[in-house]
Amino acid sequence: MPLRDTSILKIRGLMKSFGSQKVLSGFDFDLAEGKTTVVLGPSGCGKSVMLKHIIGLIQPDAGEIHFDGKRIDHLSERELKPVRFKIGLLFQLSALFDSMTVRQNLEFPLIEHLTLTDAQMRERVEEALDMVDMAGTEDKLPAQLSGGQKKRVALARAVITHPEVILYDEPTTGLDPMRAKGIDELIIRLKERLGVTSLVVTHDLVSARRVADHIIVLNEGKIVEQGTFDELRESRNAFVAQFFEAAGSAAHAPGITA
Ligand SMILES: Nc1ncnc2c1ncn2[C@@H]1O[C@H](COP(=O)(O)OP(=O)(O)O)[C@@H](O)[C@H]1O
Ligand SMILES: [Mg+2]
Repeated sequence: MPLRDTSILKIRGLMKSFGSQKVLSGFDFDLAEGKTTVVLGPSGCGKSVMLKHIIGLIQPDAGEIHFDGKRIDHLSERELKPVRFKIGLLFQLSALFDSMTVRQNLEFPLIEHLTLTDAQMRERVEEALDMVDMAGTEDKLPAQLSGGQKKRVALARAVITHPEVILYDEPTTGLDPMRAKGIDELIIRLKERLGVTSLVVTHDLVSARRVADHIIVLNEGKIVEQGTFDELRESRNAFVAQFFEAAGSAAHAPGITA
């Protein structure tokens, strides 16, 4: 199937079961280049499993994944390395290395993949920290940072390699509304400054509304509906309506300005 040149990631017919539990059942998905796509769905619907397929941590039972025009779902660990390098990841738990300083945490993906001079490395670290408003924290240890600050540093680490795509797994979950808004603003900033393509999976409707150019609603491993936030808010689909209803005021509040 020919790839549309505006879509950097294409998933076709993805199937995955764990034992007798079907998690993804014929999942099709296109990620538009330079845009922020949100995959919205309840806990347990298969969002993280989908992300893990994209970075090759889980192999599909059937289906295909194409990244940058290349099929990637059957690659070996070694073949996957350059693909993973083009993808920045922000997992739900920020997963910084506790015994390493912020600088060492940030240098980690650079050392593995690039041959930079010390000066270039310092520059990259500064640039990445600046991007997330954490300049000057190079010598701190994760334990000295708040939850929101750790998340920012983890985001700096995700962008330090200048990835083409950033995958966010529940980036605002567990943060208070102010910090969640701060992370949403960073997601928007990274898109605008770096022109990066983003895929955000979340069950947070407020966050989805702020960051999304396009929203896909997932339930039980299938796309139920997709569109802009306003289109989905008017949806006649029973599941989508219920999901928005359950999230209550968020969906019906007046416009949020980013
Ligand atoms: N490695 C695994 N082995 C068995 N079951 C799994 C595994 N990973 C995920 N699952 C199951 O798949 C379903 C979807 O999980 P997940 O994608 O993590 O949901 P979420 O949408 O909350 O991210 C859940 O029922 C989960 O228990
Ligand atoms: Mg998850």
